[in-house]
Amino acid sequence: MQSLKISEIVINWYKKNFRILPWRPKNIDQKIDPYIVFLSEFMLQQTTVKTVVPYFINFLKKYPTIEILAKAKLDDVLAIWSGLGYYRRANNLYKSTKIITNELNGVIPNNYEDLIKLPGIGDYTAAAICAIAFDKKVVVIDGNIERVVSRLFELDLRGNDLKKKVRKILSLNIPAKENSLFTQGLMDIGATICKPKIINCERCPLSENCRVAFKNSAINYPLKIIKEKKIKRTGNFYCLINSKKEILFLRNINLGLFENMHVLPSDGWLKDNHNLDFNIFSIKERFDCGVIKHSFTHFDLDSKVILLKVDDNQIKLKDNCIFIKLENLDMFSIPTLYHKIVKLVLKNI
Ligand code: ADE
Repeated sequence: MQSLKISEIVINWYKKNFRILPWRPKNIDQKIDPYIVFLSEFMLQQTTVKTVVPYFINFLKKYPTIEILAKAKLDDVLAIWSGLGYYRRANNLYKSTKIITNELNGVIPNNYEDLIKLPGIGDYTAAAICAIAFDKKVVVIDGNIERVVSRLFELDLRGNDLKKKVRKILSLNIPAKENSLFTQGLMDIGATICKPKIINCERCPLSENCRVAFKNSAINYPLKIIKEKKIKRTGNFYCLINSKKEILFLRNINLGLFENMHVLPSDGWLKDNHNLDFNIFSIKERFDCGVIKHSFTHFDLDSKVILLKVDDNQIKLKDNCIFIKLENLDMFSIPTLYHKIVKLVLKNI
């Protein structure tokens, strides 16, 4: 008897063992809604499944279709995203849904070339949407899939060389149909069995095909890349609070980090500064609250937090400034860093 191909093994296993996730149909034969895959793949960029799940459920409840999302106010979309981080994704998701509704008759492209033209969609996301939503024969490589394949074939490669090899192996093993199930099956084997630090080869459907199955060396794969140390930046963050316990925020119109979100005035850490003209305020009290540490993709930040109690009478604020009541902070798009800062300030007043 001829042995089963890797793709057949993975697909058969997935049909019986798939993880129930809110962006997947409950039943394997049910049709997949491309919008749901589209939304989940935006959220899953740089973020774990566990973190994404509650945000996804909330988001889909509020924006159940692409038309509804495209008609929403950007501020509301950013507000519901806040806490999930990497806010550029939310700006790009919104821009993409506008393009799809206004220029593509509301239809999400079903091919890699058109998907990758949309804001916020790179190689991985275009491939994942093609494979998962449209069952296209496209290779998808995320961290889980890379780990599973590098162990299966004991690949002594790292970085781009590893990625190239994994791509070649997968393109030779991609099934003629049900690539959606194959792709998600590899993801699930990586997430639930072939984990970074623990292997469960006795449960793995691929153990007979795997060069490192049941060996201690399995956890060495994929080989580590030596990471460069992140640079450190330091900035001053000002929390201006008035007698009504309202905090002054700036709407950030600079592109890039925290685009269109509400931020506290700060200096010293960004080129596109979030500066404030302090002269218009009468400052009654200043207090140094301490330092908040926060990590970004390319740098670590030490934020020195300065509380400034201000007199709030007759101040003519600029258009980009707004005093927000403490109890209303959740209604605005405020990045996690600033929530952490406000929390520290509240301990000091
Ligand atoms: N990571 C990225 N996309 C995913 C998906 N569709 N299911 C599970 N994990 C993922």
